[in-house]
Amino acid sequence: MEGKKLLALLCVSWSVFCLTECVCPEGLYTTSNRLECCLCPRGFRLMNDCISPRTPPQKCEVCDPGTYLDHPNSEQKCERCKTCDNFANMVEGQRCTPSSNTVCVCKDDHYCDKGDECKVCYPCSTCEFGIKVPCNLTSDTQCNEKAPEESKITTAIAITVPIIALIAVTLIVVFFLWKRKRLCFKSDEKFENPESLELLGDTDLERFLPRISEILGFKVVRNVVRRQGMLSQTIIDNVMDENPRDANERAYQLLKAWYEKHGMKGAYKALTENLIAINMRSKAEEVHELIKELSNRGERRNGDV
Ligand SMILES: *[C@@H]1O[C@H](CO)[C@@H](O)[C@H](O)[C@H]1NC(C)=O
Repeated sequence: MEGKKLLALLCVSWSVFCLTECVCPEGLYTTSNRLECCLCPRGFRLMNDCISPRTPPQKCEVCDPGTYLDHPNSEQKCERCKTCDNFANMVEGQRCTPSSNTVCVCKDDHYCDKGDECKVCYPCSTCEFGIKVPCNLTSDTQCNEKAPEESKITTAIAITVPIIALIAVTLIVVFFLWKRKRLCFKSDEKFENPESLELLGDTDLERFLPRISEILGFKVVRNVVRRQGMLSQTIIDNVMDENPRDANERAYQLLKAWYEKHGMKGAYKALTENLIAINMRSKAEEVHELIKELSNRGERRNGDV
């Protein structure tokens, strides 16, 4: 019972649907006699209208070669297929059919970026510095912009390299000066200008001699003494012979012999100058520090008394 009802309902629906859609799937048109007829399908033109309402036309005819109709219609004539313009650098991409127009595309190595509006194709650009994105039918070649980048890099190198070189050279020079203790970081003016040592006056070195000889060591003392040329080689040899085992003692004795011969006047200055002359500036500085320190201590002790 239920089944029959359902079947009846389906039949009614189908009939209603078919009245409008089944018979005229493409839609309707109205003739000059106010009669509604089905449209001819794509690729066909209308020859004769229908006789009864909402029925297919008596005759639809397929479009002749070289003509087309790409939509359901009631046209009596098909439209001419377009031809592709070789002078516009275009060639046929898809042939014309009764239901579709010709599709024109750009010929090889040409592009057109106007989409459906395209009337002319242009030759693809060539690249001086290589292709970034190749040309295709719808967009031109995209090229690498090597030149500006290269000049940027060149500029960067031109600026950076000399700066780095300058810093490196400066560091090397500073390093060597520092190593040779030429550059006095404490900037002790006395050693920049030995003349100013005289401001210290003639310090009596007598009581400093043991410490000074310790600082200098025998070889340095001997170099200084020889350079000054005040003691004969015999005296130097004697000092060496008398103290064959004890280098410290040899240094002290030699320095003492030199000091006695030289006399107090200008002795400190001469010692300093000779140390600097034999490239022993650091030793000269040490001696200077020693004398300064011991003198201060002596003064303080005197002040306390
Ligand atoms: C052509 O290349 C462009 C990028 O340059 C891209 O967006 C487009 O999809 C390409 N078209 C075809 C048909 O390959």
